Amino acid sequence: MSDALKKEILSLREEINRHNYRYYILNQPSVSDSEFDKLFKRLVQLEKENPHFLAADSPTQRVGAPLESLGKNVRHEVPMLSLDNAFSEEEAMDFDTRVRKFVKEEVIEYLVEPKYDGISSSLIYEDGLFVQGSTRGDGTIGEDVTSNLRTIHTIPLRLRMLQPDKNRGRSVPSKIEIRGEVLITKESFRTINRLQAENALPLFANPRNAASGALRQLDPSMTAKRKLHFYAWGAGKVEGFNFDTQLEILEQLQEWGFKVSSDLMLCHSITETIERHHQMEKKRSELEFELDGVVIKVNQLAYHRELGETSRHPRWGLAYKFRPMQKTTRVAQIEVQVGRTGILTPVAILDPVELGGVTVSRATLHNEGELAEKNILIGDTVFVERAGDVIPEVIKPVIEMRSGKEIRFHMPERCPVCGSETKREGAYLYCISLSCPAQIKGKIVHLCSKKGFDIAGLGIKKVDQLFEAGLLKQVSDVFYLRKDNLVQLPGWEVKSAQNLIEEIERAKRVTFPRFLYSLSMIGVGSTVAKIIGQNFGSIEELEQSSLERLTSIHGIGPELGTSVIHFFSEKRNQNVMRAILESGVQIEFSRIKSKLAWEGIKFVITGSFKTFSREELIQRIEREGGSVTTAVSSRTHFLVAGEDPGSKLIKARKLGVPVLTEMDYLEREKSLAQL
Ligand code: IVH
Repeated sequence: MSDALKKEILSLREEINRHNYRYYILNQPSVSDSEFDKLFKRLVQLEKENPHFLAADSPTQRVGAPLESLGKNVRHEVPMLSLDNAFSEEEAMDFDTRVRKFVKEEVIEYLVEPKYDGISSSLIYEDGLFVQGSTRGDGTIGEDVTSNLRTIHTIPLRLRMLQPDKNRGRSVPSKIEIRGEVLITKESFRTINRLQAENALPLFANPRNAASGALRQLDPSMTAKRKLHFYAWGAGKVEGFNFDTQLEILEQLQEWGFKVSSDLMLCHSITETIERHHQMEKKRSELEFELDGVVIKVNQLAYHRELGETSRHPRWGLAYKFRPMQKTTRVAQIEVQVGRTGILTPVAILDPVELGGVTVSRATLHNEGELAEKNILIGDTVFVERAGDVIPEVIKPVIEMRSGKEIRFHMPERCPVCGSETKREGAYLYCISLSCPAQIKGKIVHLCSKKGFDIAGLGIKKVDQLFEAGLLKQVSDVFYLRKDNLVQLPGWEVKSAQNLIEEIERAKRVTFPRFLYSLSMIGVGSTVAKIIGQNFGSIEELEQSSLERLTSIHGIGPELGTSVIHFFSEKRNQNVMRAILESGVQIEFSRIKSKLAWEGIKFVITGSFKTFSREELIQRIEREGGSVTTAVSSRTHFLVAGEDPGSKLIKARKLGVPVLTEMDYLEREKSLAQL
């Protein structure tokens, strides 16, 4: 009995670890969350009932008791040095020249890795088991954060065992120190800061500080909530295992269960590494983690030994930094901007500052509440950040730099553009006038934007001019512009006027989602517009839709639904829409009939399954529109074969009917459902 129990516990652990690896490391989940939860709960229950089978490397043992060891010093067996920095192409070339003094080869391979901006950490594994984790500290002595590191899913509690590799003798080293970076995503950083602000706690200046705060929590359950990630970038001391190249180390680390960057590039010259630096700098805003540069490493480890190190830096590597995305500057003034939906946004007017190659002189402060929570005053020195293509943001003031002359800002009672009254909705103030010029101009620019009608000739400057000249009084006027009116305005010639009119004519054929996006309904961005567009076959159908019908669509909640209904109930909006359509705008509708994964597909089932019972599998197939028959024939589309399959498997093979394992079935069902 106890043997069978032990077997089940071990097999559950293995299965859960396998799912975790596919989910966290490969980004290819193979079971649904609920199926995973089922396995996990079963393991928790079995371990609770049989505590003698508990093990430190069980996936249930990630979150332990509050840290007793935090603050305990750990001496690194091999010092954790830092890399020399470069900020220009010349400095990168100098690095290559220095390397070439030691390595007399024509072609030197360099591995270029992203330089993640996080907390450098060291993990010790003994015979495959994670035994201790620490921060870098001063490079010689770090801080023990083992229990907190254990909560990070991309840190395996035991190295994944693979087939022993003949060349290397063993599948895991007797002892290895793995080094990498503890990180949080840019998105988690924003969430954490929002929570800090809500709880009147100090804000973190950047994701690295937030990650550090999370890693140094006394209670591991608090760390677990902060969604930390670990990216492995190298190995320290290794016993009982050999590597030849840096790339090989990283590939092996991934096989052992670590997350390794998917942005590695093996280069064959320093100019190639410089190109890669520039490429990554352009790409950095799209990445979910903050990068502050790339790391260039000589790939052959034999050369590392020849190159050695200076007192502070190894000679085989270089941190080639990007231009910073966050800096401090002064808030010269705070202005209020009125958006296309009437929202009043406080905007900081900054002493211009260069962030990642762009000069920033304005940054959003979102709303009055956030301004108060962040405690930003006119005259403050502040941290400003430009994350991706997001509008620059003021993060927090540098309180120590205050002189006492700073001034508190208050939102105006009336719209600063048209003088109308404002109303408060949640955290935001709105101008209530529907004829507010700021709103109309904003709506026109939005309608002409790339995701809307895509009329490139009508940007903010041109819209301003045509509005002031009285040619654009409301949104639909875009489609009634005339060449002879345009040419009378300064800066317009026959050719440019003709081009704009032709562009507008071309734009008049538009898909339904783009049309909906262009209307500036509150909450309807391009994703929601697409969802609505896929579910309605005409404007009338949408106009007449009830709240129930709208909210029955996946992705549309009551707030959005109400906003859509409110939009169509406004006479002014109805008039604008009618005018747009009467100008000759033609909408292309393409309602998508929701498709079931297995519509019309015939299955036969044989054997028994781990994830579900046969009955459950039949239900799953039928729910997705498929049918299950008992005998395999040439008309059978798939045979799903579990353990101990019967003669049906032989028949299927004979007839050439495709055979799916349990995993294959789940993967296909999932990918078809996502189409
Ligand atoms: S290799 C001898 N590779 O950047 C140090 N470091 O000073 C070898 N970092 O402390 C470091 N991404 O915390 C290396 N792909 C990467 C890295 C990386 C981030 C950090 C690390 C190190 C600092 C460089």
